[in-house]
Amino acid sequence: MVGGGPVGTFSLTDHFGKPVTEKDFAGRFMLVYFGFTHCRVVCPRSLKKLTGALERLGPGASAITPLFVSVDPQRDNIEVMKRYLEANFPRFLGLTGSAAKIEAAKKSFRVFAERRADPNDPDGYAVPHTAIAYLMGPDGSYRDHFADVVDEDAVVRRLAAALSKVPAQAAG
Ligand code: NI
Repeated sequence: MVGGGPVGTFSLTDHFGKPVTEKDFAGRFMLVYFGFTHCRVVCPRSLKKLTGALERLGPGASAITPLFVSVDPQRDNIEVMKRYLEANFPRFLGLTGSAAKIEAAKKSFRVFAERRADPNDPDGYAVPHTAIAYLMGPDGSYRDHFADVVDEDAVVRRLAAALSKVPAQAAG
């Protein structure tokens, strides 16, 4: 058990329109990244890196559900999330929801994100956000996190290490 990690609870809707909580992923690892589909640099870079790491992990990656949680519920509805992820990062399942539910999820994962004016955005705003991917274990507890600066090699190594630590009874 790692102390001080995020609690990791949420009650949101996936990009197929199905209501989900962290309990729906019990028995699996979750790789949870918060961002928004209009993000021009940080999210695409992170999602590309995480996708690359999962691909290199091989069959072990099948135990991990990668989740992309929107911090921009105003624009990122279910259809927008589905289109964005299927076109660009098909390994990821998108989660979105009401502003209140997104706030609750952010709080639970200790993610900071706040809407700010951005003259370069067509809608006039962006949502700068914490760029950390959280790895949650099959029991829902926090296992590791990967800041933006952690490179793909290190992510692969640390995901493999986390997978190898799962007790046999929790792996199924
Ligand atoms: Ni972003």
